[in-house]
Amino acid sequence: MRIGVLTGGGDCPGLNAVIRAIVRKGVKEYGYEFIGFRDGWKGPLENLTLDLDIHATRGILPRGGTILGSSRTNPYAIEGGSQKVIANLKALGVDALIAIGGEDTLGVASRLADEGLHIVGVPKTIDNDLSNTDYTFGFDTAVNIAVEAIDRLHTTAESHHRALIVEVMGRHAGWIALHSGIAGGASCILIPEQKFSIEKVCEWVESRFTTNYAPIIVVAEGATPIDGELRTKDSTVDSFGHVKLSGIGEWLAQEIEKRTGKEARTSVLGHIQRGGTPTAFDRVLATRFGLHAITAVHEGTWGTMVALHSTQILTVPLKSAISKIKTVDPALYKEAEIFFG
Ligand code: F6P
Repeated sequence: MRIGVLTGGGDCPGLNAVIRAIVRKGVKEYGYEFIGFRDGWKGPLENLTLDLDIHATRGILPRGGTILGSSRTNPYAIEGGSQKVIANLKALGVDALIAIGGEDTLGVASRLADEGLHIVGVPKTIDNDLSNTDYTFGFDTAVNIAVEAIDRLHTTAESHHRALIVEVMGRHAGWIALHSGIAGGASCILIPEQKFSIEKVCEWVESRFTTNYAPIIVVAEGATPIDGELRTKDSTVDSFGHVKLSGIGEWLAQEIEKRTGKEARTSVLGHIQRGGTPTAFDRVLATRFGLHAITAVHEGTWGTMVALHSTQILTVPLKSAISKIKTVDPALYKEAEIFFG
């Protein structure tokens, strides 16, 4: 059997660990052959391939990024794109495909599975916003990077009696902001799921200053004020229709300065959260996802995705992961609120 593997969408730490586990178990236990596709769906669309065997995947476990490359190419946004993918896979003798990605990549995988392709998905995203899995790998690494940044910002904020704002990723879901904000002792956490009152944020800022601690505000890039708008970098959209976010941190700094008279500055973590070596948690989760994905291929459970449920890895329908984004439960946000101010 010949298996294709691709990684699509924004990269995230742990992708190489998944690829390594798929190939290692696929070759050693099932005697499969592999073919890597470069740059997400662009690979099968344009026949961009790469040799994938045990040798090619040695030493990649701790490496960030993806040896296969990634892109946000959407075959369904291109005339005849999906037919081309199916025809190219057939011509290359690919019997099954493992697609590692987030909602967009797995959305394409699900549609291709409906068209009859033998496909298994692996969920990845630092945002942790895919449904029907407790966690996606990459999230733990991103949170740890953000916590380290918050810890560092505390000491400089206190030296200068400033409010410091940390803008983290999170387009529709505030998981990174919530977890890093709780772990980093933020004086408030702002997430896309809950519109915030700038007056309340300023109250929290002022109250933190009265205790001789400098306020640290953690804001997800997709957070918006009541009556305010999503802050975007420019008006361009990718092939899945997403705008580039950024700017809410800067807006907050200006408003806080204007309203409280206290100096406020912003650090945007951006792609730092996505780069570098995965944490041990992400390496283990990614490895287990890879091992179970190749087993799902072996068992022919097409149109499914591997998922973490408690400590077990299960296979669930691809559709159940992408039909709705997993957002932060208001009760969880409420737990964090006790520390605001
Ligand atoms: O896909 C996850 C994500 O990290 C989002 O939180 C963020 O908005 C986006 O990727 C940025 O992606 P890119 O760097 O590819 O524009």
